[in-house]
Amino acid sequence: MKRIFSGIQPTGEIHLGNYVGAIRNWVELTKEYDCIFCVVDYHAITVDYPIEELKKRTVETALILIACGLTPEKCRVFVQSHVPEHTELAWIFNCVTPIGELERMTQFKDKSKQHRANINMGLMGYPVLQASDILIYKAGFVPVGEDQVQHVELSREVARKFNARFGEIFPEPKALLSIAPKILGVDGAAKMSKTLNNYIGILEDEKAMWEKLRTAVTDVNRVRRADPGNPEVCNIYTIHRAFSDNQVLLDVDKGCRTAGIGCIDCKKLLFKNLSEELAPIRDRAFSLMKDTDYVIDVIQKSACDCSAIAKETMKEVRSALGLLTI
Ligand code: TRP
Repeated sequence: MKRIFSGIQPTGEIHLGNYVGAIRNWVELTKEYDCIFCVVDYHAITVDYPIEELKKRTVETALILIACGLTPEKCRVFVQSHVPEHTELAWIFNCVTPIGELERMTQFKDKSKQHRANINMGLMGYPVLQASDILIYKAGFVPVGEDQVQHVELSREVARKFNARFGEIFPEPKALLSIAPKILGVDGAAKMSKTLNNYIGILEDEKAMWEKLRTAVTDVNRVRRADPGNPEVCNIYTIHRAFSDNQVLLDVDKGCRTAGIGCIDCKKLLFKNLSEELAPIRDRAFSLMKDTDYVIDVIQKSACDCSAIAKETMKEVRSALGLLTI
């Protein structure tokens, strides 16, 4: 069975954009692939972060993945720092990665601008650690969003450079792009994100969720209900596409274009479908919150499995490098 690896930062609250763009696909992929999903805490420390929050965010991120259906019967969910071989391999990969390649990574450039006072080696080496995450498991496929394609390309290059110098150990992983539409924030302007505070969290209660949806920006040119709207430029329609069936899509598309349906009614329909899908996830998440021992147990067992694979790879790597073994 082909192996998949992907990672998610422990930012705590997971929003609709993460869910539609990544997690929901991951659940589908577990049907066909041997899947490993990782909460990447070592990546999170490359920028300033609230130290006292990290533990909570790490557990919560793993908990949400499990609640969304990434259960231990289907895949492995673990925490990056629990398998220290990731960082060990990253050091070795540092020695085959040209600095120039890292300097031209868009994410590095963006984050360097956002965190001028803390442009550290970890931030620059971020994609090298990501390459080790993937390659230590010899994963062939990496489901990611558009913004991570450059990093997966770098992983391919790291694999190539390593193999050319030390012998064929690593496959070149391929990015699996999600076909899900990109969801904008409730401002209808920027990509949904936690930092921009324009998000709908997947664990928010129905009242809060409706309030955000009710006031969310739609097609800005549709000022009055009598104005016809254009679903193609409406973020609410994009979210509909992720949660509603074809009949509803046809109805709201036509209704919007002919001013037959108002934005509020369109949003009510969306809210109903959204709630249907998210309510069971929220219920599972809240019961897991009462039983975090179960979550810890899952990530511990997964780390143990992953650690066994990682150790095997490191044995091969050490021998290929010519290191003295004892
Ligand atoms: N950089 C990824 C992100 O910000 C997270 C990540 C870390 C990752 N390691 C990975 C994704 C390995 C895929 C594979 O979304």
